[in-house]
Amino acid sequence: MNNALAAKLHSQTQSLLIESKAKLFEWIAALGAPLHLVFPQRFTENIETLQDALTKQGLKHEVYFAKKANKAQCFTQAASEYDIGVDVASVQEFELALSGGIKGVKIGVSGPHKSDTLINLALVHQALIAIDSYAELDCVIAIAKQRKIPARVLLRLQTQSTKTSRFGSSLCQLSSLLTQCREYKEWVGLEGFSCHLSGYCPHARGNSIHTLVSAIDEAQQMGLSPSKINIGGGLPISYLEDEHWQHALDFECFFAGKTFAGFYPYYTKQSLEDTLLAILAVKNEHGQSALEALQLKDLTLMLEPGRALLDQAGISLFKVQGIKPHLGTSDCYIATLSGSSLSLSEQWFESEYLPSPLLLSQHSNGILGEYRVAFGGATCLDSDMLSWRFIPLSQLPQRDDLMVYLNTAGYQMDSNESEFHSMPLPRKIAVTWESNMLSWQLLS
Ligand SMILES: Cc1ncc(COP(=O)(O)O)c(C=O)c1O
Repeated sequence: MNNALAAKLHSQTQSLLIESKAKLFEWIAALGAPLHLVFPQRFTENIETLQDALTKQGLKHEVYFAKKANKAQCFTQAASEYDIGVDVASVQEFELALSGGIKGVKIGVSGPHKSDTLINLALVHQALIAIDSYAELDCVIAIAKQRKIPARVLLRLQTQSTKTSRFGSSLCQLSSLLTQCREYKEWVGLEGFSCHLSGYCPHARGNSIHTLVSAIDEAQQMGLSPSKINIGGGLPISYLEDEHWQHALDFECFFAGKTFAGFYPYYTKQSLEDTLLAILAVKNEHGQSALEALQLKDLTLMLEPGRALLDQAGISLFKVQGIKPHLGTSDCYIATLSGSSLSLSEQWFESEYLPSPLLLSQHSNGILGEYRVAFGGATCLDSDMLSWRFIPLSQLPQRDDLMVYLNTAGYQMDSNESEFHSMPLPRKIAVTWESNMLSWQLLS
């Protein structure tokens, strides 16, 4: 059976699935399915790995957790304990960052033209506002003047010549933005520049550092003193162990002949530290590396990872409600899972979450064989599929078995959930280990 799409599995998660299998069924019986399990200890390990890699480079740095990647407050609380910042894009995320223990000065506010309420909140708490446009800069200046509170700002620039992103100001507007910052110096403190990069390419991130360092030069020549460069998130992680996973897709079949525009790059050779080194090694036309460019001017590099800090920090359990043979085939089946694919966000980005889910069965009478099962949600929508791909399984799932989707904390589990069909939002529990003793807590 082709295993190239087998999900990468953290050893502690593996022992949870094997040694605490009965507990998982107990939690499902008590709390309902689907059920999301989050592992804050993985999150803090990832923070440490990233901080260590940055410190090793002798680089001034600030890390902000991109709050949108998971709604569980335990991650925000852990960010507070580790004294990192949080990146928010709504009033509600701002409030949750504060109540999670993040100081206002450690909150970064991103997103396009922000509401007056969000701007006010940022001003009062001295959060760092990423300014998306000239019009937004004007708005922030007006509110800052009215409140008599100077704003801390970054100017978000389009560092790539892409016509596909709606975020940030074009580089040709830089002079006028800087003129405005100088004119209203009393009300806007320009701390640096940021950018929004789609994709996960380290080279694009390194190039953007150089572009933003040039913007720092221009600002300094105008008498301003910015010192921060924010390249956002987009640090890639591996969900799969097999670097040839894309070739393996040639041998997979998808329900209803479904095709996809593209997939997340599910495997990367590089560790988090290697990715950082690759970004910092990118040279400009004078042969200067991004690291040298930052250090020469004593600049601070800001990162806003979401997915990378949540690597291996959660799994999602779905209960099998029923299964039937897929018409016209001898070994393909369609199973219905509790809940819906809104609890697996990739499906809502014209893509598929490819890491194979694992079957946990309490039935001892399962017949071994080679089966392929596609998984749909318990809704009346044909398009509500958690896995369009016929997942290879050596045992046929039965009613009340569990399907476990791995590594779902980063964006998958809760970004898109809704109460469709009046079904309640799935519950979440935080699972932690203290000298191998497992404890858990229901999250609100
Ligand atoms: C402003 C900003 N910061 C950070 C991120 C997080 O990106 P990732 O989770 O890929 O690290 C995003 C993602 O869209 C973003 O828009």
